[in-house]
Amino acid sequence: MKDLLKGQIAIVTGGTAGIGKAIALRYAEQGAYVAIFGTNIERGAQVVEALKAMSNTGGADFFPVDIGNFSAVDQAIKLVLEKHQRVDVLVNNAGITRDQLLMKMSEADWDEVMNVNVKSCYNTCKSLVRSFLKARKGKIINMSSVIGLTGNAGQVNYAASKAAIIGMTKALAKELASRNIHVNCIAPGFIATSMTEVMDASQKEATLAKIPLGRMGSPDDIANVALFLASSLSDYITGQVFTVDGGMVM
Ligand SMILES: NC(=O)c1ccc[n+]([C@@H]2O[C@H](COP(=O)([O-])OP(=O)(O)OC[C@H]3O[C@@H](n4cnc5c(N)ncnc54)[C@H](OP(=O)(O)O)[C@@H]3O)[C@@H](O)[C@H]2O)c1
Repeated sequence: MKDLLKGQIAIVTGGTAGIGKAIALRYAEQGAYVAIFGTNIERGAQVVEALKAMSNTGGADFFPVDIGNFSAVDQAIKLVLEKHQRVDVLVNNAGITRDQLLMKMSEADWDEVMNVNVKSCYNTCKSLVRSFLKARKGKIINMSSVIGLTGNAGQVNYAASKAAIIGMTKALAKELASRNIHVNCIAPGFIATSMTEVMDASQKEATLAKIPLGRMGSPDDIANVALFLASSLSDYITGQVFTVDGGMVM
């Protein structure tokens, strides 16, 4: 299918790498303008250059923002709204891990994960909600994780943050459904990005053994679902969690 997002205005947080970059590329390929939020200026510029070079793109810009900082996020969103008057699709994808057994986990590691993974979603949604309500349409896609569904030793902060995203998705979907604003989340499994690159060979092997489809996912596997959720193909779906994990969690 072509032009699924023709003329649409999208924001992708954490669009400078991995899953977010794949989503940004997929959206641009389908005709959207994409605003990338991230902190790595060099990678942000490279992604914008790649998006602008695509034949069907609606354009792109990079906004250097620490996603956990409300005023920085609010300022960047104001710039997007000034330029385009609306945002149609918001993808809350930015996320980090700071893995450690609880016994050794510092308060700073707990706070940073909660700030980047959860408060970030409050920041973007709060800043955009009036605009979505005025437009009486919108698609919000939050990036959770299978870890938010199952838990994982050494990831209490990450698991709590990803479970929080599911709760927020369901609550916000109920708040906004009457105005035709859809809020869904994706729970990826084991996806080949820099986040999973740090795992050692035995950890990777143990995780692979739990995947019925027998392979790691690619960022494109997630981008395909993010495209579906951004497009009108998903217009009767809200408040849902899409597990994209090769069958890990059934
Ligand atoms: N990979 C997996 O197996 C997997 C599984 C389940 C869920 N997920 C989730 O999918 C999302 C993307 O993960 P990924 O695997 O693509 O990771 P990644 O390759 O490490 O990319 C993370 C992205 O988040 C951005 N980011 C991190 N801290 C930020 C901050 N303070 N402000 C703004 N942006 C920030 C990074 O941008 P900058 O470097 O430019 O700041 C980067 O673009 C995350 O929410 C992750 O939890 C991943």
